[in-house]
Amino acid sequence: MRSKHTGWALFLWVLVAGTAHSADIFKDADLALGERLIAENRCSQCHAQKVGGDGSSIYKPMGRINNAGLLRGMVEQCNASLNMQMFPEEVTAVAAVLNRDHYKFK
Ligand code: HEC
Repeated sequence: MRSKHTGWALFLWVLVAGTAHSADIFKDADLALGERLIAENRCSQCHAQKVGGDGSSIYKPMGRINNAGLLRGMVEQCNASLNMQMFPEEVTAVAAVLNRDHYKFK
């Protein structure tokens, strides 16, 4: 099990290095793959336990995740801290689906 600090270090790295703010980073994403990974990793089940309903109200486009780069970084942070072992292009695919359905960053 990796320490909690690994997740935060990654998150901060993303904040500092995340110059890719625009949703261009999602333009080649495999949306079908992202949808499958979201189902397989039980993202919504866990979120629903926290916020109720279908879990989608955990996604707050007006919150601290307010651009495409940060959205992808958040998914990467979950990937690392929950040990999901997704590849970078899979993280991008998942984030792209969340962006299409919830965040709608340009
Ligand atoms: C074991 C529980 C759990 C699982 C599984 C999980 N999450 Fe989360 N997720 C959380 C919790 C708890 C939060 C709220 C964190 C907070 O508000 O500080 C969160 C927050 C988020 C956010 C930020 C929402 C926002 O706008 O602030 C995103 C994006 C996210 N999760 C994506 C995912 C994705 C994608 C998956 C599956 C690949 C996933 N999570 C799986 C527990 C989980």
